[in-house]
Amino acid sequence: MALKETLLEFLQMHKGEVLSGEQLASGLNVTRAAVWKTVRALKEDGYQIVSHGGRGYEFTAENDQLSKTQIYAAAEDDHFDLEVFSEIDSTNTYARSIAHKAKDGTYIIANRQTAGRGRHGHSFYSPADTGLYVSYILKVNRPAEQILKLTVAAAVAVCEAIRSCTSQDPKIKWVNDIFLDHHKVAGILCEATQDLESHMVDSVIIGIGINCRTIEFPEEIENIAGSLGGGFSRSTLAGKLHRLLKEYTAELDNPALMDLYRRDSLLIGRQIAYTKNGRTFAGTAAGINDEGNLIVSLDDGRTEILSSGEVSVRDWR
Ligand code: BTN
Repeated sequence: MALKETLLEFLQMHKGEVLSGEQLASGLNVTRAAVWKTVRALKEDGYQIVSHGGRGYEFTAENDQLSKTQIYAAAEDDHFDLEVFSEIDSTNTYARSIAHKAKDGTYIIANRQTAGRGRHGHSFYSPADTGLYVSYILKVNRPAEQILKLTVAAAVAVCEAIRSCTSQDPKIKWVNDIFLDHHKVAGILCEATQDLESHMVDSVIIGIGINCRTIEFPEEIENIAGSLGGGFSRSTLAGKLHRLLKEYTAELDNPALMDLYRRDSLLIGRQIAYTKNGRTFAGTAAGINDEGNLIVSLDDGRTEILSSGEVSVRDWR
């Protein structure tokens, strides 16, 4: 076995322990310089090996490069177009530019985005190696009002995909932010392209960003953003997500979809607040109707039906 494989096996066996260069060199009967060179090569292959100054090396995670083979395998389907970028400005921007000629189900994935976009003109922090940034192109050719539930389908698919790769139980904060332990771990941005003559929506781009094992976030989002914590392959998550997106986006008229969305809701039963026309309202999220609107029992006794907007949770528990 080559030194690279032997060293990798040794480090994997001692995952989480700090092993000195000397320990590794004598254990494998090679020089410390050879250990150092081989650790560097493993890091270049994408293995997460932390160098602890003079103390030694710690193996923290498997190679988690995005691999087309693994993505197709996890999707249990290789009949869709797939493009994987190590870096791109935004997968959604790119997907929009190719949507007119792309096939239904085309999947664009990036390891890093330099100009990731979120809803309401916000940016989406998309560092390399620790997150998953995807855009799913759906050819619809339907009027806009018939595809409103695509965001519902996407949110349910993201939760299911996360559950299938981890032991976590994420929740949907209406409309479509995905939360885990009071922190946002994923966001969804759906964009449509329209045929100017027929006024039909011809393509929808479902953009999804998932923080898999990002630890540090920019100051402005550090209190709200969180991560799944890793321990799974991003390619597997991406593949499973493709399969679930395909499944749920084909079921927009199935009432069971809304039931799943309600089941995964973070808000139902909680004290919430929101701002409308400059005024703040407080109440309880009483439910989500079949159209995906949030039913709020206001503290002043009235009921309000919200079709869009941002709400905040008042009673985290
Ligand atoms: C939000 O939380 O406001 C939505 C975030 C959506 C981010 C994803 S990452 C992949 C795709 N490309 C983008 O530029 N945005 C979406």
